Amino acid sequence: MEQLPWIFRHGSSATVFLCSKEYREFSPEKGFAVYDHQRLTTPFPSHATTGEVIEGVDLTGRRAIVTGGASGIGVETVRALAAAGAEVTIAARNPVSGQQVARELDGGPGSGSVRAAALDLADLGSVGAFARGWQGPVDILVANAGIMAVPDRRLTAEGWELHLATNYLGHFALATALHAQLRAAGSARVVIVSSGAHRTAPFDFEDPQFERRPYDRWTAYGQSKTADVLLAVGARRWAGDGITANALNPGWISTNLQRHVDDATMRAMGAIDVEGNIIPQPYYKEPDQGAATSVLLAASPLVEGVTGRYFEDNQEAPPVEDTRDDSGGAATHALDPATADRLWDYASAALR
Ligand SMILES: NC(=O)c1ccc[n+]([C@@H]2O[C@H](COP(=O)([O-])OP(=O)(O)OC[C@H]3O[C@@H](n4cnc5c(N)ncnc54)[C@H](OP(=O)(O)O)[C@@H]3O)[C@@H](O)[C@H]2O)c1
Repeated sequence: MEQLPWIFRHGSSATVFLCSKEYREFSPEKGFAVYDHQRLTTPFPSHATTGEVIEGVDLTGRRAIVTGGASGIGVETVRALAAAGAEVTIAARNPVSGQQVARELDGGPGSGSVRAAALDLADLGSVGAFARGWQGPVDILVANAGIMAVPDRRLTAEGWELHLATNYLGHFALATALHAQLRAAGSARVVIVSSGAHRTAPFDFEDPQFERRPYDRWTAYGQSKTADVLLAVGARRWAGDGITANALNPGWISTNLQRHVDDATMRAMGAIDVEGNIIPQPYYKEPDQGAATSVLLAASPLVEGVTGRYFEDNQEAPPVEDTRDDSGGAATHALDPATADRLWDYASAALR
């Protein structure tokens, strides 16, 4: 029987202690978690909107790329960055829908311009063409596009399992191809949209493409989202270039992402009722709430200079060892610097 996916829930309240340089957080379920840095918190609640987290920020003259910016939380990310004055490029697999959204969002009062360009993350030729076509600095790169729970094991033309190719490798190829343009910006930010699903699956270096183990669509999604967090941790090597990179879980938002999840699975998850209506849950977010953590990391002065971390609900998430717990947090398998460097080398070799 298929393993059911995680469901992200907001659990217990936490008590916070500051002990000299060591930061500890206590919850009755998890005991103490210890950080090597002070966990970053912001005043924004879990359901803050993009407008709230970006209020007062002026992005005039900044240039942003949002992959998958033509649907779901990507649209709201583009909308918020453009409304703050940024010049935004929607990098879309389907250029027609990209241009349609760009026309809708372009030219609002006080807004930066919005345009669309073709990018298929599952085609490394397309990623290379996008990067070669880019002129000038990139201030903000939001690696937002993604797919989830593709029912059968599918490979790209280059032989990559589709979740890994789309959610991780295409974004790794894009970020590394744009490294010079990110560096040229002086203080660029890379924002990588991961998922709470990263907690379900460490990166399997022995069999990342499911060649020997049975294919499981949730494990494939979870592994690709772990790789996304590891991409942010690995990119700490770019700190000297003024480039920061952070990953995030946007929460649970009803979008096209669920296109491969059938009604029976959605019912088993408690997401819909027998008639197919969404069952409201306190942890559900509207798209412009789901995009808020991306926008916070892309633009807020509160995260200036912060790199290699994982956020959810507009806060840095605490590390968790026990990933059977579904109350959130950053799995330590996704935060380990040595694993991040190993994956960086693995992906770099794959691209050669
Ligand atoms: N919604 C949630 O509850 C949730 C929870 C956790 C994480 N996330 C993450 O949030 C991100 C945005 O998802 P969403 O909920 O906004 O879903 P969505 O509406 O399906 O948006 C995903 C976007 O990715 C694009 N995309 C897919 N494959 C691509 C490819 N090969 N090349 C370029 N673009 C591609 C899609 O383009 P097409 O329209 O052409 O397919 C779409 O624009 C994803 O990374 C997802 O994993 C979402």
